[in-house]
Amino acid sequence: MDLDAIRAREAAHFLPVVKRFPVALASGSGSRVVDVFGNEYVDLMAGWGVTCIGHSHPALVRAIAEQAGRLMQTTNIFYTLPQLDLCDRLAELTPAPITRSFLTNSGTEAIEGALKLAHRATGRKVYVSTKSAFHGRTLGALQVIGTPKHRDPYAPLLPEQILVPFDDLSAAKRAIDRSVAAFIVEPVQGEGGVNVPSPGYLRGLRELCDASGALLIFDEVQTGVGRTGKWFACEHDGVDPDVMTLGKGLGGGFPVAAFLTTEAVARTVSLGDHGTTFGGNPLACAAANATLRVIEEEKLVARAAELGARLHERLRAFAEANPGVAVGARGRGLLQALVLRDGERAATLPARAIERGVLVNVTAGNVVRFFPALNIPEADLWPALEIVFELAAD
Ligand SMILES: Cc1ncc(COP(=O)(O)O)c(C=O)c1O
Repeated sequence: MDLDAIRAREAAHFLPVVKRFPVALASGSGSRVVDVFGNEYVDLMAGWGVTCIGHSHPALVRAIAEQAGRLMQTTNIFYTLPQLDLCDRLAELTPAPITRSFLTNSGTEAIEGALKLAHRATGRKVYVSTKSAFHGRTLGALQVIGTPKHRDPYAPLLPEQILVPFDDLSAAKRAIDRSVAAFIVEPVQGEGGVNVPSPGYLRGLRELCDASGALLIFDEVQTGVGRTGKWFACEHDGVDPDVMTLGKGLGGGFPVAAFLTTEAVARTVSLGDHGTTFGGNPLACAAANATLRVIEEEKLVARAAELGARLHERLRAFAEANPGVAVGARGRGLLQALVLRDGERAATLPARAIERGVLVNVTAGNVVRFFPALNIPEADLWPALEIVFELAAD
């Protein structure tokens, strides 16, 4: 077997919608993955911000194996203890007003649920979202993302949608009136380029939504579960949403996501308003429970804050010392970015990094995004970072 044979198999039977990098992965442990030929890579992207406790953490593997041997799937018409445990834990961890969860299989499904909830709670149909936002690929989520190239081929989707610049409170103020069901926003935009809002932006949105009766939805699919150095990124600003979405890191690599809300909003739904076959199955919930336990026991939220601050400092220093190469650094916790000057060089960086044994992501054209496991060993992180610096400057 060689890579050409693998490419040929993919070309024959996979829907041609994904641009692949020339790596076929076979296994992973911690922050290292190994391809089918035995080559090892340091993983600075953690399965797109998902494997937050590292690949195949023994506690997660054990929890999945035990639950798989006991009960994998029922339906939501029956109670299961792993699901109750997860909903209890999420209510404890999330900001105080958030008390109720509905569990889904992916981030985009969580967004669909959040949008439906806003419609139910307000009886309104207009959604406001931000330019460069990413919320997923199902039709409702597509309508509120901020990248026309993804959305326009399928429009019109939801009845009405307004797109405003991110981090622009005046634009939000003009858009949010009494017809708006919800303002949906990532507390830090991930795919859009790791854009951190100015202090006061989220609080301003909260006030605008309160004044108009619109719900405020924080999409924490990428930023939640410790990634930014707090359990949830909205805690940096001390602002509570009406609805929150989670995904990615929640299952440590196992597919599980959620939309969560307050008592007041939960009172507006009726039996049968929403449902799912797989969402909230005991296997996924056992994985999420184990992941949350590991994050807590290994103090990974604090580690994301501390290590993230040091990573940010190195990125900042590199940008300052290499103004011809990098424009700057930004991010929170272990969601960090080095913004390069040259988009074309940035585009080739991931493939060049693979040749040097590093998996790294570039988003929004010229933004090198670092979102490794929250427990990445420093012995893996810093040498891999040096390689990225070398390639960025090359
Ligand atoms: C902020 C945000 N919301 C939603 C999604 C969609 O999640 P999924 O790919 O699990 O459907 C993503 C995925 O990258 C995301 O970053």
